[in-house]
Amino acid sequence: MKFRYLEKEDKKIGDLVKREIERQKETINLIASENYVSSAVLEVLGSPLTNKYSEGYPGARYYPGNKIYDEIEKIAQERALKLFKLSAEEWGVNVQGYSGSPANLAVYLALINLGEIIMGMALNAGGHLTHGHKVSASGKFFKVAQYGVGEDGFIDYKELEKKALENKPKIIISGATAYAREIDFEKIGKIAKKAGAYHLADISHIAGLVVAGLHKSPFPYADIVMTTTHKTLRGPRGAVIFARRKKIIENNEIQKIKKKEETIFDRINKAVFPGVQGGPHNNVTAAKALAFLEAGKPSFRVYQKQIIKNAKVLAEELKKKGFSLVTGGTDNHLMLVDMRSVGLDGMGAERMLEEIGITANRNAVPGDEKPFRPSGVRMGTPAVTTRGMKEKEMKEIAEIIYGCLVKKESAVGLKKEVLKLCKKFPLMY
Ligand SMILES: Cc1ncc(COP(=O)(O)O)c(C=O)c1O
Repeated sequence: MKFRYLEKEDKKIGDLVKREIERQKETINLIASENYVSSAVLEVLGSPLTNKYSEGYPGARYYPGNKIYDEIEKIAQERALKLFKLSAEEWGVNVQGYSGSPANLAVYLALINLGEIIMGMALNAGGHLTHGHKVSASGKFFKVAQYGVGEDGFIDYKELEKKALENKPKIIISGATAYAREIDFEKIGKIAKKAGAYHLADISHIAGLVVAGLHKSPFPYADIVMTTTHKTLRGPRGAVIFARRKKIIENNEIQKIKKKEETIFDRINKAVFPGVQGGPHNNVTAAKALAFLEAGKPSFRVYQKQIIKNAKVLAEELKKKGFSLVTGGTDNHLMLVDMRSVGLDGMGAERMLEEIGITANRNAVPGDEKPFRPSGVRMGTPAVTTRGMKEKEMKEIAEIIYGCLVKKESAVGLKKEVLKLCKKFPLMY
């Protein structure tokens, strides 16, 4: 990849960018939340679209010069709705989210008051920080009730319902950051209705699978659906929020719309801007639009299918080699490996893998108490699948991981094997 100006302008940063590109090319990336965007998406991200302020929404901006951005944003909205097969009458979509965390915060601010209760999956069960963990704004500004998983590692829906009815949260969040099994959005939607809560489905991890019809869609059962755009969806770093154009819940009852601005979608828009964000990042909005176009192609479904096939093979191979997996396997793009099964913890395993050129992040497993020193490592296949790797390569990767973590083979030799695989499946930048 050529940078005509960067190296002349700033050698230090130029060198670091070059080194990072090399690192990406020479690393087997098993971080379940990462991916590689297309060259076209990279082009749009680096375009002069970054230069413009567009506070507001199409047709109602606080700055002049926004006709083109209005068109871009509307295309992004239309494509997002089309991608998830939604009717524009029932659903609205906000495509301005800077990232998943502010987008979740915007949803909370839109629908509940400070100090009211949200209920999400606990971090050590696979939930995200923004689902109510005490160190996140979601846990500081709101009261929190959390649900977890049973001893088998699967979501315990009975327990979830019991907690929801006891705590009467205003929002129940479905979705996770480290959960290897299909989520029953229908069940959680029903529980939310029973408890008088909004149902926010955070599909950041599985959005690509949902688009491809390989994970049940949350839309029929949710009031709001948030997704980041940079994980399985393979777009730029950012988020989108889908929200119903009706149904405001007040005093635990679904209210009829009295005024137009009382829809959930209107509230979400106000909460994104001016609630938690300022001007949208227009280069990213355009890149989102492009990524949605890419995700609408038949090849995207083939890609998502391969992600799952690869995850299943990697999981099975690791199990054969003595690694224990939370829930015993995977339905999606990731798995959670309990490193205690091979006498390690998450941090130790993460470091050993990084030394040979494999990135996979340490992660809590159910029951873990210390987030910085957890027992597991999360492994996902979206990025290696983008490189073109298939089942055969998953077997090779499992062998390398086994050689590194269990057989304690020489790091130099294993690194060579990693490099060989990377060269065979190059990144095109
Ligand atoms: C389920 C879920 N929600 C929200 C987020 C937050 O996204 P971001 O890192 O873009 O703020 C993540 C990120 O990993 C996630 O996995």
